[in-house]
Amino acid sequence: MSYRGLSETTLRIDSAEFVGSAHRSEDFLRDGRPEISFVGRSNVGKSSLLNRLLGRKGLARTGSHPGRTRSVNYFRINDRFYFVDLPGYGYAKAGRSDREAWADLADRYFRDLGARTVVLLIDSKVGATPLDVQAHEYLASLGAETLLVATKIDRLKRNQRMTNLRVIRQALGLAEETKIHPVSAETGEGIPELWGALDARLGGRGKRAETVVSEGRNG
Ligand code: GTP
Ligand code: MG
Repeated sequence: MSYRGLSETTLRIDSAEFVGSAHRSEDFLRDGRPEISFVGRSNVGKSSLLNRLLGRKGLARTGSHPGRTRSVNYFRINDRFYFVDLPGYGYAKAGRSDREAWADLADRYFRDLGARTVVLLIDSKVGATPLDVQAHEYLASLGAETLLVATKIDRLKRNQRMTNLRVIRQALGLAEETKIHPVSAETGEGIPELWGALDARLGGRGKRAETVVSEGRNG
């Protein structure tokens, strides 16, 4: 892939801007730009991964309190595509009505048509919980293009990694050829590889390698 020629941070991020939050399905953006959405259990590291991929620390709000992200948040990247930060599922302390409201919002989001790649995050240390298995099956039933990521890989010793990834594969019933991308938002491990997969999903449209050189912009 031409991708290899790029710098370590791989995809050149010329612009990454928060464009808004949708609390109701009427507010979902539908402007035809492709979307990459981040889905997973509350606290799995969705917002942190999004920030790390963009090299922008505080862009998406993160936190040690689960349930940090409560709406569908849109970030426009290079004016070409969106990163979408979704509320996490399985937040135990959320009240029933809160939980239902979030599930309903996410459900409406996924049932909406559009060019969309879904990144499903699984905590590499916790493994695939029953809710993760359910989310995986749900996404498959909608025909979503799901890309699997194992988060917080820095928390595992080298010799634990293979084992944990294997257990996750088994729990999700993955086909042999389906890849799981181990990543760390903390250390940046696995980020270039994940960008490679994301860029391939975007059909190379996310990358601006050529134009960047001729425009000579920075930042
Ligand atoms: P919600 O918005 O509640 O759904 O959570 P989230 O999935 O967006 O998680 P968030 O990114 O807010 O991270 C949750 C916690 O995990 C924070 O304390 C992060 O610092 C921590 N965390 C996220 N990614 C990593 C990682 O790669 N390594 C380590 N060690 N910690 C991480
Ligand atoms: Mg979040």
